[in-house]
Amino acid sequence: MRFDILSVFPEFFSVLDVSLVGKAQAHGVLTITTHDLRDWTDDPHRSVDDTPVGGGAGMVMRADVWGRALDDVLRSPLPSGEPSSGETVLAIPTPAGIPLTQRACEDLASSAARIVIACGRYEGIDARVVEYYAAHNVRTFEYSLGDYVLNGGEIAAVALVEAVGRLLPGVVGNPESLVEESHGAAGLLEYPVFTRPIEWRGYRVPDVLLSGNHREVARWRRYRAYERTAQRRPDMLERIDTVALTKRDKRKLAELGYLVPQGAAHPLRMDVREARLDDVAELAALAARTFPDAAPPHLTAQSVDMFIEEFLSASCIAHYIEADEWLVMVLSDRCGHLAGYSLCLIPAGDGVAGSDDGAPAAAVVGGRARRGPLIELSKFYVDRDYRGIGAAAYLFEGTRTALLRRSAQYEEPYLWLGTNHENTRARHAYRKLGFSEVGTRVFRVGDQDNSDVVYAMPLRVA
Ligand code: ADE
Repeated sequence: MRFDILSVFPEFFSVLDVSLVGKAQAHGVLTITTHDLRDWTDDPHRSVDDTPVGGGAGMVMRADVWGRALDDVLRSPLPSGEPSSGETVLAIPTPAGIPLTQRACEDLASSAARIVIACGRYEGIDARVVEYYAAHNVRTFEYSLGDYVLNGGEIAAVALVEAVGRLLPGVVGNPESLVEESHGAAGLLEYPVFTRPIEWRGYRVPDVLLSGNHREVARWRRYRAYERTAQRRPDMLERIDTVALTKRDKRKLAELGYLVPQGAAHPLRMDVREARLDDVAELAALAARTFPDAAPPHLTAQSVDMFIEEFLSASCIAHYIEADEWLVMVLSDRCGHLAGYSLCLIPAGDGVAGSDDGAPAAAVVGGRARRGPLIELSKFYVDRDYRGIGAAAYLFEGTRTALLRRSAQYEEPYLWLGTNHENTRARHAYRKLGFSEVGTRVFRVGDQDNSDVVYAMPLRVA
């Protein structure tokens, strides 16, 4: 690969003579030629710029000077021995360019035989230059290093040479190190890395990395990469491919707020938030759609409908949202589409919610007695496509956090619920969320009685 760099500061590029790029030049893997733009000027002051036509601050680089320089450099032959196949690309660093990405660098490394980099200064290069070469069959690439302004394109030229150069065969000693790095094929930021000493200033390398268990190490790294990417580059996490994700991966992503419902090609960023009145219509539809899923086979459609009419109609839901003693949380995407909800009844003070509904007021769970309100988790539903992917755990965590905020002054608030004893899916899920079975109750749906199991847990889990 050959790089030609044109700049008014050709001496700037001595940095490319060191490190791996320097070595690659010495070994003939790549050639870098720098050119002084002023060599193509035709006046005694060797001027390369002029004032902007139309007025305004600063100076603009002249098309005539750039044209002469680029004609010569683009026409010059590739040094013998270099592959003649591949394109010549005219790369122009500019803060107004498209952001430079690893994909673009990979593409250039595999398709270009020569990259000519035109470094602008001042307010940039006369716009006709890029237009002219693009119209004359030169592939042009106006790129930006990031959303900030440098004094010129030189730093960005060095960045392009290094980012593309290191992808050429033979530049990076161990090609394996290109596989898992940030912005690699997985589309994630790289996990944190460590080396000896194992203990440094009181900070220890995570034990799992010392375990020798390669699967555990790989999983730990993958999850750290998810966390880092979620925190720093959520836009990247929303673009990852979901086909290769395991159920555990999906659950980990769900903990971070990225859900992978059935059939989704990419994770979906979702929030758990309090319901608003503008959610009522969709929430009522969700409630009506999901309630029958939890009904045991002996319940008639008529009983189910009666229950929905009486407790889950739009007007009921509007009431739950508005009334202080109810907390309605929804699992929502950014467009307001709802995939789950929870409905909690919060008693006054440290009282008991649902004492007529079988609240386990005397329950003690895991040796921890209630010292605060006994809150009822009256409804907790996740839509079908969102089951088995960690959505319930995410919704529950959001609900628990909101309830803790509401009962912050109490030492040990409790949460309880009842669910049909035949609903093994729900029972398993509640146990996984930290609930313990503490009793039974009879629960009326429409005009039929149901035998429920009652669960409870302390809200503050260790
Ligand atoms: N020239 C000035 N600022 C730049 C940036 N952010 N990226 C590329 N070239 C530039």
